[in-house]
Amino acid sequence: MAEVSVESTIPKPALRALPDPGRPPIEADVGKGPIRRMNLNESPIQPSPKAIAAMQEACTRVNRYPDPQWRELTAAISGATGIPQHRIVMGNGSDEAIVSAGRLAVSPGDEVVVPMPSFPSYNNAAALNGGTVVTAPVKADGSNDVDALIAACTPKTRIVFAASPNNPTGAILTSAEVARLVAGVPDTALLVLDEAYYEFGIHAGGEDHLKVMETRKGPWAVFRTFSKAYGLAGIRVGYVLAGSDDIAKAFQKVRSVFNVNAVAQAGALAAWHDTAHREMLLEKTRIERERLVAGLTELGAEPFPTVANFVTAKMDRPAADVCSALLEHGVMIGRLMYPGYENYIRVTVGSAEDTDAFLAALKEVLAK
Ligand SMILES: Cc1ncc(COP(=O)(O)O)c(C=O)c1O
Repeated sequence: MAEVSVESTIPKPALRALPDPGRPPIEADVGKGPIRRMNLNESPIQPSPKAIAAMQEACTRVNRYPDPQWRELTAAISGATGIPQHRIVMGNGSDEAIVSAGRLAVSPGDEVVVPMPSFPSYNNAAALNGGTVVTAPVKADGSNDVDALIAACTPKTRIVFAASPNNPTGAILTSAEVARLVAGVPDTALLVLDEAYYEFGIHAGGEDHLKVMETRKGPWAVFRTFSKAYGLAGIRVGYVLAGSDDIAKAFQKVRSVFNVNAVAQAGALAAWHDTAHREMLLEKTRIERERLVAGLTELGAEPFPTVANFVTAKMDRPAADVCSALLEHGVMIGRLMYPGYENYIRVTVGSAEDTDAFLAALKEVLAK
């Protein structure tokens, strides 16, 4: 038998080609004392006190495995969305759903169509499974260009990702645009509408696209999460609203059995029912987002119109320089890693104090 080198077999080459997973920088990495985390689109607001109490109570029962079918959570979500309970698949964050979509749909040589710029995990869904990524640039307002996404499809396309609001731009789609996607994406591809920031879009007066997605003949799925509007990024709960029994079953098959732990299920359920807390978080986010956009504009930056919990803006200099200078002031923000977007920063909406500190630091940085 011919010798096969370990390097060429394990891990599989597609995996070797991927960058190492990142992790949020912590104070110790920066070495400058407390930092304001305005880089990961987290909520600065703590979760609902009811969610915290439910999680504490759930801790007393963790000698038992969690419900592998997350029945209480899916019942609640089904009640609000009208999607039958068996077509709701919970995940370890909606990031798990993105990875699962790749596992269930993409084989070597297939194509995955993604907006550019958008959420980097979509690339992994393709690359992990030997697929290639085909990009469709966003429109000038930062929203997904649905006609470009459709035009990028070929007979090899197995997933089309659309995001509304889009990360990192923050723009939403109209239902008319989603209807074009629903009709225009070939039935040989899974149409994914990533709505990680759904609640922010609705709060800003955006349309609910679920009814339009339900008119699609081909396969589809909508992804949402508890990480953003519920302030629960740390417990990792997201979900899939699957377009058919078939697609729901496929998402079920590719996940691990106990993928959402008992504490997380309890916390998410209590948070779901605390609508007053969610509305407070959305409204506070709106107020600070508007202050950030106004402050950035005043300092000469060009922010994308955004309805989400982040603002992306074009600067007059490399974003890498702005980010590292801001870090010296204890403010951590993100930047876009796409060709042509070298001057773009992304700032997560934080507390009122975060907004003040960021804008004051940016003013100093830009004066240099
Ligand atoms: C567009 C988009 N989709 C999905 C996710 C994943 O979120 P989570 O795994 O926390 O649900 C994020 C996180 O920032 C995102 O921005």
